[in-house]
Amino acid sequence: MGCFYCCGSNDERRRRSRRSSDRKEKNPLAFLVNSISFKSDGTKNRFMAEEILKIGNGNIAARVFTFHELAVATNNFRPECLLGEGGFGRVYKGYLESTKQFVAVKQLDRNGLQGNREFLVEVLMLSLLHHPNLVNLLGYCADGEQRILVYEYMPLGSLEDHLLDLPPNRKALDWNTRMKIAEGAAKGLEYLHETASPPVIYRDFKASNILLDGDFNPKLSDFGLAKLGPVGDKSHVSTRVMGTYGYCAPEYAMTGQLTKMSDVYSFGVVFLEIITGRRAIDTAKPTSEQHLVHWAEPLFKDKKKFVQMADPLLEGRFPLKSLYQALAVAAMCLQEEAGTRPMISDVVTALEYLSVPRSDPDVGAATGEPAPARLLSSPREEDDQEDKEEEEEEDGGEGTANGSDLFRSRPGGDGVASRSWRRSGRVVYARC
Ligand SMILES: Nc1ncnc2c1ncn2[C@@H]1O[C@H](COP(=O)(O)OP(=O)(O)OP(=O)(O)O)[C@@H](O)[C@H]1O
Ligand SMILES: [Mg+2]
Repeated sequence: MGCFYCCGSNDERRRRSRRSSDRKEKNPLAFLVNSISFKSDGTKNRFMAEEILKIGNGNIAARVFTFHELAVATNNFRPECLLGEGGFGRVYKGYLESTKQFVAVKQLDRNGLQGNREFLVEVLMLSLLHHPNLVNLLGYCADGEQRILVYEYMPLGSLEDHLLDLPPNRKALDWNTRMKIAEGAAKGLEYLHETASPPVIYRDFKASNILLDGDFNPKLSDFGLAKLGPVGDKSHVSTRVMGTYGYCAPEYAMTGQLTKMSDVYSFGVVFLEIITGRRAIDTAKPTSEQHLVHWAEPLFKDKKKFVQMADPLLEGRFPLKSLYQALAVAAMCLQEEAGTRPMISDVVTALEYLSVPRSDPDVGAATGEPAPARLLSSPREEDDQEDKEEEEEEDGGEGTANGSDLFRSRPGGDGVASRSWRRSGRVVYARC
């Protein structure tokens, strides 16, 4: 009896292991990330490197660093090497003698369960996801209690550094660079939503997580909160509400039901920051202006106010038509009803169009009057036609920021509808 039971159980184990290795080969991303959801559920995990190797099963190309190597690279984590500090720890600039390259070294200062899990998710996700608009993880260190991530060094820092609270000596980003950054960041999201399989919901899209290389090409960083999206005919995954206040989609904050549309909403907030130069949340401003989306809502409805929304640091140097279109894209992404937001691939299409310099932005000092014809004109015939159609629309239109004409298709959306967040008040965030 005992033997029979035993053999049966071995067969079952073998079958399970065969099924599991099939899944590993077919979809390492799904396998790895699903594995960590229970494997990292213990208390403090002292053997993180082993865990990564075990779960990674050969898929993890990231290099394992010793603490000593990283201490040498950062001059013992010297304060002068500090690049910035976020909710999970400090980021230092380092130099690796072995590969002769500069790196960014992020030392997590929370080693609790959550810190461990986010560390694992970050290593696993970034080892399997590769795109020019995602930051490159070079390796990690999990010696003892240490949890350190080593990234390619992004010389221009984060979008936040160039957009919000600029030091007096830093030049403001020009319009075309802003559109190029928005386009690249949207392409990073598009890769996660449309190419990764299963799709990945990023969950922490914000200006400080968009890093810039020497040519202002953006790369998304910080995948610790990323989540595998729904599969099959499911519309959402249910999770604890995590993210950053001011960027979270209302329906996600209310219900914890996460969809790709939650990322699209956060994209809308960042895009609005890019256009306006205002923070998602700015407690230094008068109460009515502290919450960017609430501040923008009435302005979106009145075309005459659009120019007032542009970042004063642009000093009016932008094609007025592009400003209108950019605001329209932002407004679409910020629709309260998740299902009516555009898919991120439609946003990319719109931004590819907007990021093509259409006229010399330096001549477009905005006045609040309708844009001069020379600013709306384009070398391409189809653009001329489009402009005419738009002008006609402008005459008869309601004058609100409505971006539907910019999108390839009507937004479908897979979101959960919610109408109540802004009206019904506060939500507690796990991480604000
Ligand atoms: N790879 C990198 N290259 C250059 N600078 C970096 C790199 N990664 C991070 N930084 C800098 O370090 C800062 C802190 O980054 P970090 O991700 O720890 O925090 P955060 O994004 O500000 O907040 P949060 O913890 O909520 O994500 C960034 O804003 C950026 O200026
Ligand atoms: Mg970050």
